Amino acid sequence: VREIALHVLDLLQNSVEAGASRVSVDITEDAATDRLVLEVRDDGRGMPPRIRDRVFDPFVTTRRTRRVGLGLPLLAVAARQTGGDASVESSPGRGTTITVSFGLTHLDRAPLGDMAATLVTILAANPQLKLHYRHRRDGGEALFDTEVIANQMGAVPWGEPQVALWARDAIRSGLAALPDPVSGPVRDKGR
Ligand SMILES: Nc1ncnc2c1ncn2[C@@H]1O[C@H](COP(=O)(O)OP(=O)(O)OP(=O)(O)O)[C@@H](O)[C@H]1O
Ligand SMILES: [Mg+2]
Repeated sequence: VREIALHVLDLLQNSVEAGASRVSVDITEDAATDRLVLEVRDDGRGMPPRIRDRVFDPFVTTRRTRRVGLGLPLLAVAARQTGGDASVESSPGRGTTITVSFGLTHLDRAPLGDMAATLVTILAANPQLKLHYRHRRDGGEALFDTEVIANQMGAVPWGEPQVALWARDAIRSGLAALPDPVSGPVRDKGR
């Protein structure tokens, strides 16, 4: 199984390739509906309908180096395997939103993976990118927003190793403070 964070890396790469200057990643884990919903929204160039309508089919790509695009089709398959689905909203000049749902506790649902590593990797390669990450789990919320950080600190050199490590740890501790995942290991509460 491919971790969700690796799919997010693909989606963010697509957004960057589409010239986005701002991307938001929203993940919501909701035990009540047994859903994990991932949304990636960008302000890039968007897709013409002929691409948009087939973006989850293999073999649709606008890249020239290779004739198949696989990122989005694989993601749609992974979602449908867990009783979820994938959808896209996009038009030229209006950006793109990809929404993917998974069955939260479905046995075939991939683990979240290392979201901090994904975000830090994208930021290190694209230090100008405005990246907003919100992760909600059962009433808890973790936020990482490069615009908020830049407002406090000025331009941040995200490619600097020290800065990247700091960001990685900040994202990890935000996620660690969320309520325990329903599908995660049962923890000894100290009794
Ligand atoms: N966020 C986006 N904004 C604009 N166009 C997009 C976006 N995401 C995907 N696309 C379009 O959909 C096509 C298919 O995307 P997909 O990620 O499946 O393959 P790819 O990016 O072409 O190749 P790969 O991901 O394997 O390097 C892209 O070539 C691009 O034209
Ligand atoms: Mg791609």
